Amino acid sequence: MFGKKKEKSQIDQEQLKLIENAQRRIRQKKNLYRHFVIFLIGAVFLIIANTVLGIGETITLFGINWFVYAILIWLFLFAYHFFNVFVTHKFMGKDWEKEQLDILVSKQKDRIEQLKTSIAQPELEVSRTEIEELPKKKTNRTIIVATGENNAIGKDNDLIWHLKDDLKRFKKITSGHHIIMGRKTFESFSKPLPNRTHIVITRQENYEVPEGVLIANSLGEAFRLAEHDKQPFVIGGGEIYKQAIPFVDKIELTRVHHSFPDADTFFPKIDESEWKIIANEFHENDEDHAYSFSFTTYVKHI
Ligand SMILES: NC(=O)c1ccc[n+]([C@@H]2O[C@H](COP(=O)([O-])OP(=O)(O)OC[C@H]3O[C@@H](n4cnc5c(N)ncnc54)[C@H](OP(=O)(O)O)[C@@H]3O)[C@@H](O)[C@H]2O)c1
Repeated sequence: MFGKKKEKSQIDQEQLKLIENAQRRIRQKKNLYRHFVIFLIGAVFLIIANTVLGIGETITLFGINWFVYAILIWLFLFAYHFFNVFVTHKFMGKDWEKEQLDILVSKQKDRIEQLKTSIAQPELEVSRTEIEELPKKKTNRTIIVATGENNAIGKDNDLIWHLKDDLKRFKKITSGHHIIMGRKTFESFSKPLPNRTHIVITRQENYEVPEGVLIANSLGEAFRLAEHDKQPFVIGGGEIYKQAIPFVDKIELTRVHHSFPDADTFFPKIDESEWKIIANEFHENDEDHAYSFSFTTYVKHI
């Protein structure tokens, strides 16, 4: 929500700069036009002064009257002015370019800061070591998630939509496997889902769960508990997806074709340079589905 407001004021600033630059360009062109008119009048005056009034009639250089040189010098200055307006300042001028460069640099700095915070959280570093030590070949860690067009996944610790076929698919794909989730997602269920081994991640030491549900104190521990499952699923929510995405091999995404601006939990943006789509299936909306949606399978580029 706050991010959006910031973005809006950024656009306004940019528009303001464009207007200021447009005004500057108009002033520059007007001045050039004035220069041209003065040059024409001045040239005529010089010719008349010399040829009609006889001013400096005897002053010549290489047999050519002085006014010709005066006009040529002025013409050169006018050409320089013209060049300055249409070539040197062709786009928006040096100041504008420098400003744009500063904006780009500061955007890049923000991005680097964001990356630093998402990569260098101490708890993630611990998980990274833990997770990378696990026998990788045995598993095909998969995130399964449903998101809106704006990457929304939930609000008030609940889902935002109810899509029958998506739930059916979730059940079909995850049955018989380990499902790894954050404590909040676990608490959003009325009871554990049948025929799946639940692993709940929490920092709490004595968190109580029904029999058969496993507890992990980190993502690394959760993966270790699911080590012998060929395809453990990370099923959410936002905090866990964000931490797990660098360590999974596949994403089973249900993209709901609608935006949900009121959501409070989001899935991280999928980096297309890192992930490629291997399957995609579109579903229209109908009486059981308020929104159209697509099942998309991503695998990590090797
Ligand atoms: N659309 C979908 O596909 C989908 C899927 C799942 C969930 N959801 C939605 O997502 C929302 C819940 O997501 P959320 O981000 O609020 O919560 P969450 O990720 O489900 O759970 C967060 C909790 O996990 C524990 N945790 C997180 N990182 C940890 C770590 N590194 N080590 C130990 N414990 C850790 C903490 O539990 P403690 O506080 O107990 O320490 C934390 O409060 C709900 O709205 C839910 O409906 C949507």
